[in-house]
Amino acid sequence: MAEFRLRVNGQDAVVDVPPATPLLHALRDELGLRGTKESCGRGECGACTVLVDGAPLLSCVLLVDETVGEIRTIEGIAEENLDLREMFADSGAFQCGFCTPGQITRASALLQEDWPKDDKSIDSFVRLAMSGNICRCTGYSGIIDAIIATARRRGKIPGHNR
Ligand code: FES
Ligand code: FES
Repeated sequence: MAEFRLRVNGQDAVVDVPPATPLLHALRDELGLRGTKESCGRGECGACTVLVDGAPLLSCVLLVDETVGEIRTIEGIAEENLDLREMFADSGAFQCGFCTPGQITRASALLQEDWPKDDKSIDSFVRLAMSGNICRCTGYSGIIDAIIATARRRGKIPGHNR
């Protein structure tokens, strides 16, 4: 066992875990942040997405030893993304909800990026950015709609109508 110091959702934290523990397990099992989900456990589904210094990363394949920077989990970003969460609900962007924290976390990062100016590119831009986040329930259209609607509300794509 070893102590690792982390910065999570604006607070300092210390976890006492074996070296090479996935960040996901440190967050869920040591810090009780269970909003971040584990599905595949091998970097293929996006359920475990967290932000590290604003970048969406897969916490199941990111070792606690290697994690440097400000970690933000769904618990930490939920309030400032209330509009995105509402759009997910309004658009039918989830059913079982298991993938949803990862989807919202990755989408929150996407909503900080520059968006294409060309309306025709918007759909493929969002689909490509979200392609690492698997959903077994929804068929994705509701998720894409929710993200685009949020971008429109935030003025990322003024005048864009899908
Ligand atoms: S649980 Fe991390 S990518 Fe699937
Ligand atoms: S809502 Fe069930 S996996 Fe996405």
